Amino acid sequence: MTKTIGLHPVENVAGPKTIYQRTSETKPYVSRYKRPDTVSHSSWNWELISDQPLDQWLPDLEEIKTTYPDRMLIASIMAGAGNEEEMENWRRLARAVVNAGCDAIELNMSCPHMDRKDMGAHIANDEDIIRSILQAVTEVVSVPIWVKLTPSASSLVDGARAAYAAGASSISLCNTFPSLPLMDPETLKFEVEVDGLVTSGGLGGLAILHQALQRVSDVSRAFPDKSISGIGGIKGFREAFNFIAHGAGNLQVCTAAMEEKGSGGVGVNLIQELTSDLGEYLERKGYSSIEEFRGVARERIVEHSRIRRKSEAYNGGYAQPA
Ligand SMILES: Cc1cc2nc3c(=O)[nH]c(=O)nc-3n(C[C@H](O)[C@H](O)[C@H](O)COP(=O)(O)O)c2cc1C
Repeated sequence: MTKTIGLHPVENVAGPKTIYQRTSETKPYVSRYKRPDTVSHSSWNWELISDQPLDQWLPDLEEIKTTYPDRMLIASIMAGAGNEEEMENWRRLARAVVNAGCDAIELNMSCPHMDRKDMGAHIANDEDIIRSILQAVTEVVSVPIWVKLTPSASSLVDGARAAYAAGASSISLCNTFPSLPLMDPETLKFEVEVDGLVTSGGLGGLAILHQALQRVSDVSRAFPDKSISGIGGIKGFREAFNFIAHGAGNLQVCTAAMEEKGSGGVGVNLIQELTSDLGEYLERKGYSSIEEFRGVARERIVEHSRIRRKSEAYNGGYAQPA
């Protein structure tokens, strides 16, 4: 999966775009600043989509596909909404990345910090827009189309329904959660800021795992026969297992892979460990594939009132009928 590729002008903030926050057992506060014996807590970023133009991406995509012809290459793309010109931008991006060899496309309807109101997470509550973009893209390419939705949409399940009905073969969940960086009590500076100012950015990594699972579960229980790509807080096998148990059929990793930078490639060790731990688990349990336990958690997520109480007198918060 690529970084999101677009056609509109992109200029990132004049400072760090991403920070990696850590916490420790002895002083369990969260901070980006280096301390001994800390473990990863989350990433926080306010990076926009790729600032590299489409023409620069295309030869790279071609080279990746030629070098690894038997591997899936998926391009994430984004344009605006609300008029024919923007629909044409989606079509142009889709055609270009498929001609360059991409096997599937992910439509980014989820970036939480776009300035433009017709882009990213801003459009995820509008089912008409979701439908119109899918219609534009499916007109011009025949590869599978995934739609990445935002966890902050109040109508996530409705958005997923609109996307599946309009031809999405999979929904990706989640993008990062809208959030603010922390302020240092001594200096009164945010841990990331430009000229003393910050704006809403996105939280990723372990800190969002449980919330991402909830979103996957919501969509998976509503559409148990449809595909979901799970993302949000995956580092090792246990997190991956949980996404699969809630119904995800494939997984993506961002923060944990980026944290591993410098170890011979972004996320190489992590992926090797993840696949070998998964293989070992399948063998130990006698499963032939993840399909044997995918969605196993679905039926066990119920309304609060269905959870047993110690007494039988409780009536869901209402007085017992006389
Ligand atoms: C620095 C950074 C850049 C990101 N850029 C994109 C992007 O271009 N397109 C996109 O769909 N998601 C983007 N994301 C979101 C991730 O793909 C992912 O959905 C999110 O970080 C949650 O997964 P994680 O907990 O594994 O990081 C970005 C995340 C980070 C940390």
